[in-house]
Amino acid sequence: MPVKSQFFVFEGIDGSGKTTVSKRVSEILNEKLFPNVWHREPTDSVFGKKIREFLQGKIKLTQEEQLKLFLQDRELSVQDIILPTLKNGKSIVQDRYYFSTAAYQGRDEEHAADILYMNEDKGFPEPNHVYFLDLSPEEALERRNTRGGKQEVFDESSEQTRIYQNYLAILPESTIFVDATADLEEVVHFCVEDILKSLSV
Ligand code: TMP
Repeated sequence: MPVKSQFFVFEGIDGSGKTTVSKRVSEILNEKLFPNVWHREPTDSVFGKKIREFLQGKIKLTQEEQLKLFLQDRELSVQDIILPTLKNGKSIVQDRYYFSTAAYQGRDEEHAADILYMNEDKGFPEPNHVYFLDLSPEEALERRNTRGGKQEVFDESSEQTRIYQNYLAILPESTIFVDATADLEEVVHFCVEDILKSLSV
């Protein structure tokens, strides 16, 4: 029997497999009758759409402008999706949350920590569990090159190294580090089993 709705967040650098893994985890949990909603940030709000234009290099934004947009997008995400879903008794399996803002928009580790506090001060709900799909920036780059697709603004190897280091500095101590070099099904299985432990009595 499910204990209560919980908020699960998946984080990782680009190419770590977070989206595929979190979607699959969400599907399996629903099949096992643990009702949940898969959700992602940035969302499809007006702010999220502007963010996507920036990510694709169509518009330029300073780090401060990026931060503002991600926070505006998160306000809607929390108000319209996260809180109502949890209130309705469903869990959330989410691809990226405020740890991404700290890691990506943080110039360095200190700035990343400030951004994390800024998000917490806004009263955004704290996730119950955070899974970090751990892959080195070099391996992630190799995967992105193999996968192909359009270049995005954070694709530079030096950017991914900064982001990875920021993550290591700001992720909560309780974060579950998942070896993202493992086989996809193995990664999914590990996360599902871990989530089931916290959702079952
Ligand atoms: P994704 O859809 O592949 O996860 O891409 C979203 C991109 O946006 C990814 O490069 C990370 C970046 N991002 C930030 O820079 N700040 C944030 O707060 C979030 C949620 C994402």
